[in-house]
Amino acid sequence: MSRSATYPIRMLNPALRLRTGSRRAGHPHGVCKTGRGSSRSCNRIVAPGVPVLYQTFSISFEETGMPEQKRLYIKTYGCQMNVYDSERMAEAMGEHGYKTTSDPEGADLILLNTCHIREKAAEKVYSELGRLKPLKASNPNLRIGVAGCVAQAEGAEIMRRQPMVDLVVGPQSYHRLPELEARARNGEHPLDTEFPAELKFEGLSRRPGTNRGPTAFLTVQEGCDRFCAFCVVPYTRGAEASRPVSSVIAEAQRLVANGVREITLLGQNVNAYNGEGRDGAVSLAKLISGMEAIDGLDRIRYTTSHPNDMTDDLIEAHGTCPKLMPYLHLPVQSGSDRILKRMNRGHTAKAYVRLIERIRAARPDILISGDFIVGFPEETEVDFADTMALVEEVRYGQSYSFKYSARPGTPAAERDQVDPEVASDRLERLQTLLSRQQRDSQDDMIGREVGVLFERKGRKQDQMVGKSEHLHAVHVSNGNIVAGDLLRVRITDSAPNSLAGELTAG
Ligand code: SAH
Ligand code: SF4
Ligand code: F3S
Repeated sequence: MSRSATYPIRMLNPALRLRTGSRRAGHPHGVCKTGRGSSRSCNRIVAPGVPVLYQTFSISFEETGMPEQKRLYIKTYGCQMNVYDSERMAEAMGEHGYKTTSDPEGADLILLNTCHIREKAAEKVYSELGRLKPLKASNPNLRIGVAGCVAQAEGAEIMRRQPMVDLVVGPQSYHRLPELEARARNGEHPLDTEFPAELKFEGLSRRPGTNRGPTAFLTVQEGCDRFCAFCVVPYTRGAEASRPVSSVIAEAQRLVANGVREITLLGQNVNAYNGEGRDGAVSLAKLISGMEAIDGLDRIRYTTSHPNDMTDDLIEAHGTCPKLMPYLHLPVQSGSDRILKRMNRGHTAKAYVRLIERIRAARPDILISGDFIVGFPEETEVDFADTMALVEEVRYGQSYSFKYSARPGTPAAERDQVDPEVASDRLERLQTLLSRQQRDSQDDMIGREVGVLFERKGRKQDQMVGKSEHLHAVHVSNGNIVAGDLLRVRITDSAPNSLAGELTAG
């Protein structure tokens, strides 16, 4: 089904894009108000337990046991940046009397943190709101808020379609959430989808000193200036902006002081990080090398990156920074130069393959993961064959592949669409190849010794699950392991989406 999106005009005009720290001028395209094309599922290959890029989460934080507190339920859709934002919103509301709950029934505030990347992702918001209607009808205290990228793209439309929504808050305005909630309690219906000049992170309160699991996300960069022809992110998240180095390091130190041993640095285009340091601008590679000095931090990862921002110093860091894990998510989208050009990706297939060769020269065992879109407008069987050839050449250890979904307001939505059945057939062929590669890369681990950071209990008795350096989920049955242990494990078996192993002696 199609729906119109109304991107605020200031998001489309570079002169009005008021963010700080922006590094490149944008290339905005005109606004289109028609949505065409398929709404088929976002298909992905993903290991259970692996930080999933595009999935639905509901999060629950430790309850504090204070009876007078109000309850907050947050449902999170989309990418890791939304997962991080949800944590920050929960923490901000924690200072205003809210504790989080995993049960929407009885909640005083429900927040849906939404994703607009594909039509299906966006539609989920409306079906979830439909499901929440009876709760709203039976509980006069309940306030419902919509946050995230759908809020940004179609906030006014949400209020119109679902008048029971009490507040709408875009991703750049989360530091104003407590104020918006208070206004919603007063009977107003606030909508805040501004792009304030200040970065929201600096407006959010310090992260609380509660004990945490061993892994954490840390957003260091937001927004995107690349304007790929299919993508809504530059419109929903605005222009590229980086957090200052001191603020990132302080947050990382605090996370580590509270039990975190692995940090994944996040950004829509994280390798374009360009934060203000003491002596001027600092690249992602320099930030990573600065973070290596944090005692107690054992592992650093980063996601998601654009090939054209893989700078020489970042490639080198993969060979020289011991805490930087041998895993890189580097989306290519297509292997056809013609389609890459129409996508406005800014590189050729050959340039991408050469880049991978350079990264592997710096860190030979690095596991490469990628994103692919099939059925992009005008994609022919020959273009698709080029994508299959690129995949054969690169050999991916993990991947996420999607059928193109036309997004209103993006240039590609206006072009000749590929027959959805043809696109489905291509997706199936691509995923068969990618699954085989993932399995091969896992099978290669059998017999090898790896470090595993254990995170949680498994389903079986005495089983613990953790992540290897290469981000494989690893199951080990041993009653002595606790979450937070970083131990050596010999891999003994490979299942479709995980590995099994045993602790090495000593
Ligand atoms: N910043 C990241 C990607 C963010 S969006 C990058 O540049 O790689 C995550 C993934 O969703 C993209 O890599 C792309 O594969 C997919 N995606 C984005 N827009 C899409 C669309 N309109 N239809 C289908 N898949 C899309
Ligand atoms: Fe930016 Fe990535 Fe979207 Fe391209 S796909 S516009 S680089 S977020
Ligand atoms: Fe979705 Fe917004 Fe992330 S559109 S993928 S939640 S940046």
